[in-house]
Amino acid sequence: MKKIFSGVQPTGTVTLGNYIGAFKQFTELQDEYDCIFCIVDQHAITMPQDRLELRKNIKALAALYLAVGIDPEKVTLFIQSEVPAHAQAGWMLQCVATIGELERMTQYKDKSARTTSVSAGLLTYPPLMAADILLYQTHIVPVGDDQKQHIELTRDLAERFNRKYNDVLTIPEIRIPKNGARIMSLQDPSKKMSKSDSNKKAVITLLDDLKTIEKKIKSAVTDSEGVVTFDRENKPGVSNLLTIEAALTGQTIEDLVAKYDGSGYGDFKASVAKAVTEHLAPIQERYAELLNSDELDKILDEGAEKANLLANKTLKKMENAMGLGRKRK
Ligand code: TYM
Repeated sequence: MKKIFSGVQPTGTVTLGNYIGAFKQFTELQDEYDCIFCIVDQHAITMPQDRLELRKNIKALAALYLAVGIDPEKVTLFIQSEVPAHAQAGWMLQCVATIGELERMTQYKDKSARTTSVSAGLLTYPPLMAADILLYQTHIVPVGDDQKQHIELTRDLAERFNRKYNDVLTIPEIRIPKNGARIMSLQDPSKKMSKSDSNKKAVITLLDDLKTIEKKIKSAVTDSEGVVTFDRENKPGVSNLLTIEAALTGQTIEDLVAKYDGSGYGDFKASVAKAVTEHLAPIQERYAELLNSDELDKILDEGAEKANLLANKTLKKMENAMGLGRKRK
């Protein structure tokens, strides 16, 4: 069975962008692939975090993974910092990466421009992400479009490692969703919907109450044409709402455009809002039940145990290839 790996940062809000770009793919893939999903807390500390908040967010994210429909019987779900091989392999891959290529990462450029004191971890984030993926000999990485550059770098680092040392790492492929690889801000549809947006009206979070979601969609920026058609360039707001509805209902953009023939933006937005709230209501109910259950700890313990076994196998191969420590069988 082919292996899938992906991760999400436990940084508080999980957005509709995260859901459509990542979680929704995860639930669709779990039946066909050997899936490993990670709560990447070590990535979260590349930016300042409050320790108690971080702890809370880690548990909340675990509950959300399950609430969206991840089945712990089928997948391995674990917390990154509970598998030390990630940091160890991350270090080795930092020694394979060059500063020049890390400085070219757009996420690094964006985030470092927003902070006064830039941590070294923000720069060396991509080799850690590469370690996450490569330790599991991953074939496919389901992510949103914004992670493309990081996956390309992961492939480059793996190829370089294999060439320079020994052929031990599988070269992974990216998988981005057909509809919704990049969900845009509701207030400025030229920008990605992002949890760090200071304008809360721009972002739908999975745990927003349903009335708030409705209001946010009704006040989403569109244009003055009043015609529902798909044109990312000239009608980014309308196209974004169409993308959201298509991703959540499984309908094609063409079918939706035909459905809205003759409708104004009022009806259109009401219908998008209905699609979103109907999709999120059961997720929110399951989330509330799961958050305080004992089940979570058991699932995360088992996940860490399995992930440690798998990751350590590749770690040993990498150490042998590089000549670290003593030769082990
Ligand atoms: P993170 O936590 O920022 O986002 C989690 C996932 O959500 C996707 N995403 C979006 N998709 C569509 N539209 C959007 N507006 C949108 N915003 C976010 C992201 O592409 C991602 O798939 N570096 C990663 C976490 C990570 C990881 C990994 C991912 C660490 N190690 C190994 C895959 C494999 C990140 O910060 O994602």
